Amino acid sequence: MDKKLGLLRQKREKAFEGGGTVRIDSQHKKGKLTARERLHFLMDECSFQEIGMLVAHRSTDFGMEKEKYPGDGVVTGYGTINGRLVYVFSQDFTVFGGSLSETHAEKICKVMDLAIRNGAPMIGLNDSGGARIQEGVVSLGGYADIFYRNTMASGVIPQISAIMGPCAGGAVYSPAITDFILMVENTSYMFVTGPNVVKTVTHEVVTSEELGGANTHATKSGVTHFACANEIAAIQNIKALLSYMPQNCEDKAPALPYEVQNELRPELNTLLPEIASTPYDIREIIDHVIDSGSFLEVHKDFAENIVVGFARLAGRSIGIIANQPAFLAGVLDINSSTKAARFVRFCDSFNIPLLVFEDVPGFLPGTDQEWNAIITNGAKLLYAFCEATVPRITVITRKAYGGAYDVMNSKHIGADMNFAWPSAEIAVMGAKGAAEIIFKREISTADDKEAKWREMEQLYSDTFANPYRAAERGFIDEVIEPAETRIKLIQAFKMLENKVVNNPRKKHGNIPL
Ligand code: HXC
Repeated sequence: MDKKLGLLRQKREKAFEGGGTVRIDSQHKKGKLTARERLHFLMDECSFQEIGMLVAHRSTDFGMEKEKYPGDGVVTGYGTINGRLVYVFSQDFTVFGGSLSETHAEKICKVMDLAIRNGAPMIGLNDSGGARIQEGVVSLGGYADIFYRNTMASGVIPQISAIMGPCAGGAVYSPAITDFILMVENTSYMFVTGPNVVKTVTHEVVTSEELGGANTHATKSGVTHFACANEIAAIQNIKALLSYMPQNCEDKAPALPYEVQNELRPELNTLLPEIASTPYDIREIIDHVIDSGSFLEVHKDFAENIVVGFARLAGRSIGIIANQPAFLAGVLDINSSTKAARFVRFCDSFNIPLLVFEDVPGFLPGTDQEWNAIITNGAKLLYAFCEATVPRITVITRKAYGGAYDVMNSKHIGADMNFAWPSAEIAVMGAKGAAEIIFKREISTADDKEAKWREMEQLYSDTFANPYRAAERGFIDEVIEPAETRIKLIQAFKMLENKVVNNPRKKHGNIPL
């Protein structure tokens, strides 16, 4: 037995060495942790159980039969994060650059299958040179096996991808299908074709960082939801994200213990600017309504005219979607619509109630928006809200104009409770533009056209720049004092706790893509 135990220990030790000390040192010099070090920081102490530590590749071309590393460039298994089960894979760049072989892919698929069957989140730590070049098509097949499982798992279990090194070519499509992507600044990048190919094809000269680094994807493309300063920050971010989510689509997100206190927030009565066209930061309103310090903003630096993120209200997880008057006046455009739509769909898939703060002057005009399909993209947000069956509440703080009024979780598309502050203006458009159109004749024939216009603008504003017309119709359930917002929301979400809605049975919908 001693001899047999010795052999086992030797094999385990070899697996723990990864690609060897030289390559590990090189990994550290780049400011990166190894695959196992990352798992050490991610998982609860002693909770990680490895699966497939001794798996080796089957390739024989190019002398590969002589070069084998137990584990084959990826550490896979399960364990807990803050006491809750998760499945993980962590690619080991020190073994063939973390490249994906047939067996490497099989290991990932095995834990994905377990995650789906057992209903727990799947986390991927990506650090890979892409398809194992020595293996050819079996590697490509391996990627496709993963993409297929990512898609089957979508909406069943939460899937999170952290990019902690290269992620290029078709390899990007696994993270892209998952629910959240985190990237590490300066050490990770994602692109379909790298700088060399770009230079050859389009003659653009661009660095990897500019083309597909964390900040590029956090601000320009929106591919990543989080740009993290370093790997530890990314790992902390994954843990924070998970704390708002249930284990699977049949589960509810964990609630933190909460004792009822004085929930009035008098300061909210004075937070809005005097003049309706003055911008303000919606995050300030959010912060005063939710449980103190509980906001985890998603996609913070992308499409800043809408703010989305997780928060807690009386200890319970909610998803917030809020127009941001401090950026482009909170207008809806292509990017903000797709950003919010994806967030709404994630929350709806995983039973996280939705809270909308609305202050929206409408959709952004212009050829750029029209030619790039604001029609199709705006429809994504509309569709996402329409099909959402989780508890849904809207608070209109100020403007709710035009089609954007309908889109932003209006009563008509299935919201459960719609509140408005007395400052709400619910109308087809702003008073100035409205007066110009409907009182065109009166204005053009008046001696003092400017004065007439102002008079008519005031008339329209007096008629519609308030929440009471909508309240008379029941489109608004209650006009509330801003100070009461938190109380009203806590009560309403509690009232909606057991909401059941069964949409018509179908294979799946056809969201405008
Ligand atoms: C096999 C690979 C590899 C790969 C890297 N290595 N990529 N081995 N297949 N795809 C190995 C290297 O030979 C080297 O081995 C070690 O990993 C580290 O690589 P370096 O080049 O020394 O590291 P670095 O300078 O940091 O550069 C990293 C890199 C570069 C930018 C990722 O290695 C690279 O460009 N690799 C090829 C990327 C690529 O074209 N992949 C295929 C993309 S297409 P030693 O023994 O020296 O340590 C694709 C299709 C997916 O992925 C399709 C899905 C549908």
